[in-house]
This record gives sequence, C-alpha cells and structure tokens, in this order.
Amino acid sequence: MERALYTPDLGYYSGDRQPFGPKGDFVTAPEISPLFSRCLARQYVQIAENNPQASILEIGAGSGQMACDMLLALANHHLLPTQYFILEKSKSLQHRQKQKLAQQCPQYHDRVRWIDALPTAGFKGMIVANEVLDAMPVHRFQIQKDQAYELRVVENAGQLVEQSFPWDHACVVPFIARAQSQHWPSPYSSELNLGLKPLMQDLSACLKQGIILLIDYGFPASEYYHPDRFMGTLMCHHRHKAHTHPLMAPGLHDITAHVDFSAVAEAAQTAGLELLGYTNQAAFLLGCGIHADANAAGTHAALASAKEQVIQHHALQQLLSPTEMGELFKVIAFGRGVDTALMGFDWLDLQHKL
Ligand SMILES: C[S@@+](CC[C@H](N)C(=O)[O-])C[C@H]1O[C@@H](n2cnc3c(N)ncnc32)[C@H](O)[C@@H]1O
Repeated sequence: MERALYTPDLGYYSGDRQPFGPKGDFVTAPEISPLFSRCLARQYVQIAENNPQASILEIGAGSGQMACDMLLALANHHLLPTQYFILEKSKSLQHRQKQKLAQQCPQYHDRVRWIDALPTAGFKGMIVANEVLDAMPVHRFQIQKDQAYELRVVENAGQLVEQSFPWDHACVVPFIARAQSQHWPSPYSSELNLGLKPLMQDLSACLKQGIILLIDYGFPASEYYHPDRFMGTLMCHHRHKAHTHPLMAPGLHDITAHVDFSAVAEAAQTAGLELLGYTNQAAFLLGCGIHADANAAGTHAALASAKEQVIQHHALQQLLSPTEMGELFKVIAFGRGVDTALMGFDWLDLQHKL
C-alpha cells in the first residue's frame, strides 16, 4: 500500500494523476464547498483569539483547496495565522498546492511554508488533517481457527497475489480471543494501522499548545471490528467507483482503509495528548456554525443565480446528511494547554463510544 500510493513519480499520490474532484477519483469535503474549511477556520479562531503566535499546520493538503479557503476566511476574521505550514508527502501534490495558492490567494502565499517533517517541538495553534489517516498504509490480517495470519502481497509468476503467513505480532494476538468471545465468522479479515502510534508520538512531541483535529471516515473499535465486517474495510477508488481489488492497478487506483478511532484515541492519549472531543462530521460542522454561514451566503446568493443556490444546497446535503458524509465521517480532537470547550463538539460529543 505504501509503494502503490507513494513511490516517487509512480505512486497514486506521487504521479501525475488528479485524484480529487469530479474529474478525478473521489471528492473530499474541502472540494465540495468552502463552507467546510470556513467551519475549521472558525474552530481555529476560537482557540487562537488570545494567542497572537498561533499557526496552522495542515498535514496532507491534497489540492491545496482547504489552505486557500481557510486563509481567505481567516483574513475576514482578521486573524491570519502567523504561518500556515503544509506537510505534504507527495512532491507532485506540493507543486499543485503551490499553483493553487498562487492562483486563488496570492496575497497570503508568503505565509505558507511547506515542510518535510513535523516540527520536533514548540508548535502553537492548530494541526489539522482531513482524510489523511485513511491514506496511511495498513497491515491486513486474518483470524482463522484460533490462529492469526498476516495477508502479504507476494509476486508469483509475474503476478502480484495475496498470501497468508502465520503472524504472532503482539498487536494481532488480542484479536484471537475477541474472535472467540464475539463469535466472529471464520475466516475474519481486517486491518491494523501500525503507523498510528509513531504518528501520535510525533504529533504530541510537536504540539506545545493548541489542538489537533483529525477528520476521516471510520468507526470506534466496537463497530470497526464487528462480526458483520468480516471482509475488513480496505477499498479502492477509481473514477468515482469503489472496488475491493487493491492489486488490480497499483499506482493508478486509490487504496484506503477506514479509521479505527478508538485506536487513534488510545495512541494519542498514550503519547500524552488530551482527548478534547469526538463526534460525527455533521454535528461538528453544525457546532461550528455551518448553517448561519450558509444562510448568510444564501442571502447574498439571493442576488446571484438560482444555480449557485442549488449548488450550495447540494453541498450542504453532501456534507451533513447521514446517508452521505454526515455520519460516517468523524472528527476527533486532541489538545494541550487548552481550557476552552471546543465549539465543534457543542452539538454532540461521542467520546463515550471510543
Ligand atoms: C485523501 S488525500 C486528502 C487530501 C486533502 N486533505 C483533502 O481533504 O482533500 C490524502 C493526502 O494526504 C497526503 N499524505 C498521506 N500521508 C501523508 C503523510 N504521512 N504526511 C504528509 N502527507 C500525507 C497525500 O499525499 C494526500 O495529499
């Protein structure tokens, strides 16, 4: 998965492909409407108001749309971040982000700095990552007759094929007991993200004061490792169609896995971060005032075309509806040195589910 997504020049995110938007393979929330990024901007304002040194650090900035929309929104709030850092693994996406910022908000370009690694300490402000955790490589495992296996990719007569190998790594052993007690079907396949712990340790070391917001699709562990989900969550995307064959076109199709938010919370808390909130995307956006913002834009749009109003209505539907992104997508927040209750979790806090 790491190689298929990130091999320089050849990986899905590292090549010339345009993954995002209607002409790409999938659409992310910042691409749907600036209303999404403006909610994140308001959440930033809440924690940065009394902190003139605050910055933003975006991990995995995709097309750069969220950076543009947040900077434009924060300029309206008269609270531009000291710096807007972007940590982007793909060189080709870095290039696209620079182009987009130069086109859409050249006046703030000098605030944006691309970095190759997380700062090792002293960051103040907001760290944000939308749909980055689902793009982290996962290990696939299978539980069959009280034995755990790792599902590896091997080459056989010039073809990539999946092959299982007995696996006794400490991370998978607890699943054997779980399979017995919860009567999982056999074989039961799923995924584990072994990169979460190191990531959370790095984020914790980096953050001196402020918040970390992670937004992605997924579930708490009880729903993720549910008996009914016996095929796991690994999915591929190509031209807005989803499939489950990751070896079909490595480097050409997106490969992703849902996020186990209980594991995210555990890794962060073990790394010394405080859990500040966990909710679904709809509740987060409502808590951050998406409706008032849309209404204001709608009043303005009353002078504009009916087409723009329909587009905005559709965007709200996509972002908020439980049958679209509203419920499957979650927002989790961690922090250090923050004593304000975050507005994004005012409507609904689901921490008890983790
Ligand atoms: C699914 S895209 C989401 C892009 C964007 N955040 C959005 O919502 O449209 C995943 C992004 O994360 C980047 N990425 C994945 N792992 C990363 C890492 N460890 N460090 C920095 N960027 C990463 C990818 O290159 C890509 O830009």
